Amino acid sequence: MRKPLIAANWKMNKTIGEALTFAGAFGQMLFERFEGGDMPVDVLICPPFLGIPALCAVFAGKDVHIGAQDMYWKDKGAFTGEVSPSMLKDAGCTFVITGHSERRQLFGETDEDVSEKARAALDHGLKPVICVGETLEEREQGKTNQVVSDMIRAAFSKIKAEEVPSVVVAYEPVWAIGTGKEAHPADAAEVIGSIRETVDALFGEGVSDELRVLYGGSVKPGNIRAFMLEEQIDGALVGGASLDPNDFFKLVEAAHKARS
Ligand code: PGA
Repeated sequence: MRKPLIAANWKMNKTIGEALTFAGAFGQMLFERFEGGDMPVDVLICPPFLGIPALCAVFAGKDVHIGAQDMYWKDKGAFTGEVSPSMLKDAGCTFVITGHSERRQLFGETDEDVSEKARAALDHGLKPVICVGETLEEREQGKTNQVVSDMIRAAFSKIKAEEVPSVVVAYEPVWAIGTGKEAHPADAAEVIGSIRETVDALFGEGVSDELRVLYGGSVKPGNIRAFMLEEQIDGALVGGASLDPNDFFKLVEAAHKARS
């Protein structure tokens, strides 16, 4: 059984103080509801780099994961402005997002970069959250499955079959991100089914049964249940609605309820 994962991608939002305020409010709701015990749903928060140490300190010993939104794949050296996998690990991160469409579109991240980052993450015991998704134009041209499959093949090119359970994929149609227009859950499930087929074609039949695949793009407390009722969808990567502690708590709660 794949454990559901609800992940917050804060993007370039929240100062350290604001991150701590969120953590206080969210932690209180979460630990009251689940009595501080083992969470039935994996919860991940990815703040900007500067917020990572503060969140790791607040949630130390608790079942809440902290991740980064990006990293460079080299371990150290003359790479001005970059942060390495070992630095993230040292700070307490357990996950790292790679290949988010904003990084691909605004900062020129390539499929090759994504595969290097995914490889480096696994080498350092970090779980990569590999983001893939089509643009509106590609969807309208009927190219969704091809585009997504190409991105998956590239991103997994340096990954071994036995590492697949440590990888997370986030299927995020570009046209659904930050637009308020979420994908139809059945359509998202169909694309995710094709992602699993691609992974099985690469590594062998059934390997994708252990791969967690999230949906992302305008997920909100009001629509998450419909996504979680799709068997193919293991959780959500959430931008806007993850910034408010009440909404993020509602997302975790709704995901848990849909699966129990
Ligand atoms: P959104 O962003 O929830 O604000 O649409 C999702 C994402 O970019 O990961």
